[in-house]
Amino acid sequence: MSGFSAEWLALREPSDHRARNRALLSTLQALFRARDALEVVDLGCGTGSNLRACAPFLPIRQRWRLVDHDPALLAEARDRLAAWAEAHERAGEGLCLTVGGRHIEVAFVRADLSAGAEPLLDRGADLITAAALFDLVSRDWIERFAAAVAARRAVFYTALTYDGREEWRPPHPSDRVVFAAFHAHQGRDKGFGPAAGPRASAALAKAFRAQRYVVEEAESPWRLGPKDRPLIRELARGIAAAARETGLVPEAELSAWREARSSGASCLVGHTDLLARPA
Ligand SMILES: C[S@@+](CC[C@H](N)C(=O)[O-])C[C@H]1O[C@@H](n2cnc3c(N)ncnc32)[C@H](O)[C@@H]1O
Repeated sequence: MSGFSAEWLALREPSDHRARNRALLSTLQALFRARDALEVVDLGCGTGSNLRACAPFLPIRQRWRLVDHDPALLAEARDRLAAWAEAHERAGEGLCLTVGGRHIEVAFVRADLSAGAEPLLDRGADLITAAALFDLVSRDWIERFAAAVAARRAVFYTALTYDGREEWRPPHPSDRVVFAAFHAHQGRDKGFGPAAGPRASAALAKAFRAQRYVVEEAESPWRLGPKDRPLIRELARGIAAAARETGLVPEAELSAWREARSSGASCLVGHTDLLARPA
């Protein structure tokens, strides 16, 4: 999967926000409770969902740098954040938002992270964050990234890293073969070298502990049922498309699976959230 559409990100945002691990968000909130201002960098920001989820838990003055390589998503982020805030002002290419008693300055940065995040961290940040990003990157990238964050003594928080769990109901005879193909696709290069896929959170935990960080991981699964039919349908479409690219599942079997999953399944999709702070 090389690109992410704004429509897909909008479809998943309510489920992403519901799934985030509340206990870990509370720990994040407590870390910065004594501060009244915070500098944050959000990597692979898409349309700004991570800011919308985190801002209510962070100090009253926040400055965010939202980073993505896709200019269309950055433009969409600007529009969605302006619509989300109670009040907003354009500040050059950026935005000043007022929401929930908070003043939030947002800068939008177009950058390709595949060569490393270091240049994005050089302007300093208290918190480096990302959501639904790390299964795309390689283990080498993660190790280098953890070293760069630790060199700056920043806190790191990430949410919704896919962990490989797929529990779909009712069972379907092709589940095993389809998910095996999907997970094979997960390991393919997404621009950062061989992707860590479902092993990304474990790789992050190991890399940050090696930097003497205190690491906490917590579950944040999607639990999708009849009310989430549009998201389940799109999820099944995406899984089938990824499995198709591997050539491991006959087309007729894949189509039958997708059809069945689009019309009435419920599912649990596993994710992990992770918070790492200097010891
Ligand atoms: C699954 S989306 C998550 C978006 C957002 N964080 C959210 O939670 O809705 C992954 C994001 O990473 C961005 N991305 C992927 N590869 C990238 C790269 N090489 N450099 C910068 N951003 C990248 C995509 O454009 C996309 O916005």
